[in-house]
Amino acid sequence: MEGIELRDKIDKLKKSLNAVIVAHNYQRPEVQDIADFVGDSLELARRCTQVDAEVIVFCGVHFMAESAAILNPERTVLLSEADAGCPMADMISAEDLREWKERYPNAAVVCYVNSTAAVKAQSDICCTSANGLEVVESLSHDEIIFVPDQHLGHYIATKTDKRMILYPGFCPPHQRLVPRHIKLGKELHPDAVVLVHPECSSEVIALADRALSTSQTIRYVKESDAKIILIGTEEGILHRMRRESPEKTFHLLTTGLLCPDMKRTSLESVVRTMEQRRNVVKVPEDVRVAAKLALDRMLAVI
Ligand code: 13P
Ligand code: SF4
Repeated sequence: MEGIELRDKIDKLKKSLNAVIVAHNYQRPEVQDIADFVGDSLELARRCTQVDAEVIVFCGVHFMAESAAILNPERTVLLSEADAGCPMADMISAEDLREWKERYPNAAVVCYVNSTAAVKAQSDICCTSANGLEVVESLSHDEIIFVPDQHLGHYIATKTDKRMILYPGFCPPHQRLVPRHIKLGKELHPDAVVLVHPECSSEVIALADRALSTSQTIRYVKESDAKIILIGTEEGILHRMRRESPEKTFHLLTTGLLCPDMKRTSLESVVRTMEQRRNVVKVPEDVRVAAKLALDRMLAVI
């Protein structure tokens, strides 16, 4: 089927299912273009609490659709591609977290949303890359266990006086960006602004101008005077930036910045998912209720 036919089909399915389609900033351009809303993890979580539709079709990875299902028990959440997971989220289990909590009984647990519902259910509060510092600062505890992303945790640690105990998880695509790439980019484009994601290593963040969530990056680019921007996050972000800031030039710092899981979704898979109402995301009720508390606490902070 041609792109135009697929888009037409998706429109019809949206009406017949009373569905809304949301997509993450890393999705393929054609998938972003058929979505009703495109955003970062925080925006998507918030948006999913405000929809009227009966069905939410989530174009992203499993933990994101799971958060939508946790926040929206009365709606059906479909994940665009059943196998789209997040390797970082799978680096910690609820059992691992229980052990860490026993080891540090006085610490609060802050859990990056890139985690399973079972891990969220064991956590005091969630955060995203857009609000990590505000979440950590909102807590009365002096000690924080931060899971699963060591790099986001380290970045927050550089900005807070609290003692951050970091779980050693990481994002494989962002881990591929190394200081050499930044140095080379700056040599080639000395006037450029360097924007990276906080999932990058501390050595990379130290060489960048800003470490921002995906939507913060898109907004920063729009508002800044910089003409050339070097990007240190997944390449899907370029689509919105090119459309929203067409007068600027963007360079990806390395071709390794590609998340295969984010790229699993295609227009064909969106059609199949909607036609078959497949990949329904379900969370056991006891886990859902506990995980919702951690997500609600985050949404109350910022
Ligand atoms: P944000 O869009 O929240 O910055 O998240 C990045 C990410 O890696 C999602 O998997
Ligand atoms: Fe997970 Fe990294 Fe892919 Fe985001 S970019 S979904 S953190 S592997």
